[in-house]
Amino acid sequence: MNKKTTLAPIFIGSAWPYANGSLHLGHVAGLIGADFLARYYRNKGNSVLFVSGSDCHGTPIEVRAEQEKTTPQKIASKYHREFRHNLIDQLGFSYDLFTKTTTSFHAKKVQTLFLDLYKKGYIYKKTQSLPFCEKCQRFLPDRYIEGECPVCHFKDARGDQCDECGVILDARDLIDPRCKNCGSKPIWKDSVHFFLKLSSFQKEIIDWVKSSTKWRINAKNFTLGFLKKELLDRAITRDSEWGIPIPLKGYEGKTIYVWFEAVCGYLTASMAACTHSKNRSQPILTPDWQKFWQSDKCLHYYVHGKDNIPFHTIVWPAILMGLEKLNLPDIIVSSEYLTFEGRQFSKSRHWGVWLPDFLDKHNADTLRYYLGINGPENSDTDFSWKEYQVKTNSELIGKFGNFINRTLNFLNKNFESTVPDLISPDKFDKKVLDNCDKLFKKVGEKIESTKFQSALKEIIKFSEDCNRYIDQKEPWKTIKTNKLLAGNTLYVCVQAVSALQLLSSPFLPFSAEKIRRQLNIPSKQQWELQFILSGHKINKAQPIFERVDL
Ligand code: MF3
Ligand code: ZN
Repeated sequence: MNKKTTLAPIFIGSAWPYANGSLHLGHVAGLIGADFLARYYRNKGNSVLFVSGSDCHGTPIEVRAEQEKTTPQKIASKYHREFRHNLIDQLGFSYDLFTKTTTSFHAKKVQTLFLDLYKKGYIYKKTQSLPFCEKCQRFLPDRYIEGECPVCHFKDARGDQCDECGVILDARDLIDPRCKNCGSKPIWKDSVHFFLKLSSFQKEIIDWVKSSTKWRINAKNFTLGFLKKELLDRAITRDSEWGIPIPLKGYEGKTIYVWFEAVCGYLTASMAACTHSKNRSQPILTPDWQKFWQSDKCLHYYVHGKDNIPFHTIVWPAILMGLEKLNLPDIIVSSEYLTFEGRQFSKSRHWGVWLPDFLDKHNADTLRYYLGINGPENSDTDFSWKEYQVKTNSELIGKFGNFINRTLNFLNKNFESTVPDLISPDKFDKKVLDNCDKLFKKVGEKIESTKFQSALKEIIKFSEDCNRYIDQKEPWKTIKTNKLLAGNTLYVCVQAVSALQLLSSPFLPFSAEKIRRQLNIPSKQQWELQFILSGHKINKAQPIFERVDL
């Protein structure tokens, strides 16, 4: 069989950040795995669709707009622009599309999906009695109410979710609820709303979760725990002007709940990415999106932080099951939290490192490296400046960068920048060459199963092995007595540099590009050793990274 046809299409959706404030390193820690995956699979030759966008509706943006005495629209556009700059231009996230939930394309599609579920009976309307603050004269959105969690009795649970135990809440479940704005006790007032019939998917979701084999363990455990209780139907509309209007007559002033429409963004953004348009307001959908959403072969990865788990493992799958004939998530990649110097990132307490500040002063790849090798993959991890310095200077530069730099320097100085011949490889040479080859499979499998730390550790370990190899071979001595032998060693080293370049490229795209320029080789889509032939001329060696000084 032709190799190409055996490669599955890959869909990757990373969480849509709320456009109500700058991103901090904790956000990036939860998202970056998506770019490692996208870059790896593209190298391998799979066709990849990697989408996300700014989550622009909902209370957090309204609150921010009120604080800044401006409109939600302006706040959302400002942060959307900032996200694009930080994530795409600076950090190199290789999205096929990073859109936003305020596009008319998204709104129209979401309304269509809503109506489809409504006609099938998976969305129904019901009168709800809702918290209303008489002092503020408004219905209080979930996040605007605080109170005691009915499950773990944490005192400051929010109306939508308890940050302590993670349970999804309905504001009415809170004990002693209070308005977040003015602290007064809300009254309950009737309002008609639309509900998603989660209850009718309980069995199907349980079977599906149990049959999943590739999720991160936190996602699987959390979801199975959650499903032990009966799933309750959830209201998916709100009394708010800021959002996508309900596509039915008579519900003015009400909009579709942000969590319903944001998860639909994975599908609408995929469609938007698969349109071609001569006229921007009339995009034409190509059948490409079906290759990703209606194919048994396509693998779906979802990448986010652990507070997002139930929305991706219960709400979104239920919507997909109701819509029918669409791919469900295959691999849930939920990160734990990144702390900063031992404490949670907190905007209100001004504790953390914000992305725009960080990227003003630091290199993107050193951050990508840190979050790859020390990210909160299986448990919470910490970002500290000291650790960042150590990881960058002694691992990334001291091991990886050092080997590449000394190899290329040596070739510049002693071989007129020309790759020498391989004469008769001994067992040490063969071992390095053999590893150059084998590592692609090994590192590749780790990336596919989202073990990014372990994949990066292999790469660092290989550069340590290579440093040891060159130390043992001592080409700086043999060059004086036996140039052919020194050349033999350097030939092997150059192949190792080539392997390191490609293996590291999903993690360190900017550095890989620099290495390619120094090696004088073109960028190719491949995931196998790219041999550099004898006689090939390389460019001048240059440092790849900058040391971190604190
Ligand atoms: N905006 C949400 C958050 O920051 C994430 C939404 S992910 C989505 O927690 F895909 F559902 F949009
Ligand atoms: Zn109030």
